[in-house]
Amino acid sequence: MKTQVNGITLAYSDQGTGLPIVFLHAFPLNRTMWAGQEHALSSQFRIITIDLRGHGESDAPLWRYTLEQSADDVRVLLDHLSIRQAVFVGLSMGGYILFAFYRKYADRVKGLILADTRAQADTAEGRDGRFQMAQTAHKAGPSAIADLMIPKLLSPMSIQTKLDLVQHVRAMIQGNQISGIAGDLMAMADRPDSVTLLNQITCPTQIIVGDLDQATPPSDAKLMADQIPNARLAVIPQAAHLANLEQPETFNQIVASFASVLAK
Ligand code: MLT
Repeated sequence: MKTQVNGITLAYSDQGTGLPIVFLHAFPLNRTMWAGQEHALSSQFRIITIDLRGHGESDAPLWRYTLEQSADDVRVLLDHLSIRQAVFVGLSMGGYILFAFYRKYADRVKGLILADTRAQADTAEGRDGRFQMAQTAHKAGPSAIADLMIPKLLSPMSIQTKLDLVQHVRAMIQGNQISGIAGDLMAMADRPDSVTLLNQITCPTQIIVGDLDQATPPSDAKLMADQIPNARLAVIPQAAHLANLEQPETFNQIVASFASVLAK
């Protein structure tokens, strides 16, 4: 499905009924990374997955944008779907967008699941890396970005043995327009620090991290769990950065048990 938000076309899926759970994907992927969650959870919940601006079937505007704009897109979509409150799941960049969303629209959040993400802003070195990657996207295209990103997203074991999964991740990355890849990299480089936000998060919060995640390691997850009041932390064994794709049953079970309590 598609709708107009903030001057762009935004693509999304809306499956099932019950408590809405809104899933925000990682960089540089799209909403199909949540297919396993949609399949497993839509018999119990209303599952909304979104192609964030710059990705999948949504527009990738050739102009600078911010993660706050992506959060605004989500809010407009919620209004369009007549959803007052939802549980939100954000993985990595999706989590960064949830911090921006929470800053502006905390009253729309019934619960937060922050997966394989971090509250800290980029370091100066991290920002330089973003600009180099944007140059690579410009010069060599999305397949070069797939070559760079896949070893950061998946564990060595998954890369060697789960060929369909690797192919799905590659297809998501290669489906991006360069403007979307560069737009995200600049938006992530510009995002503010969210560590000071953590102790102001008052909704129920679940943190999830893969034990092999090197992009946003368990120490980043622990920092969030320590500072968000009453947050719970789940470390998923044998998963790297894309824990929902590498260990879907465990991931789904954590999301379902968190959301079931809030649905009562
Ligand atoms: C992601 O998975 O969204 C990215 O690894 C986030 C980042 O590059 O900081």
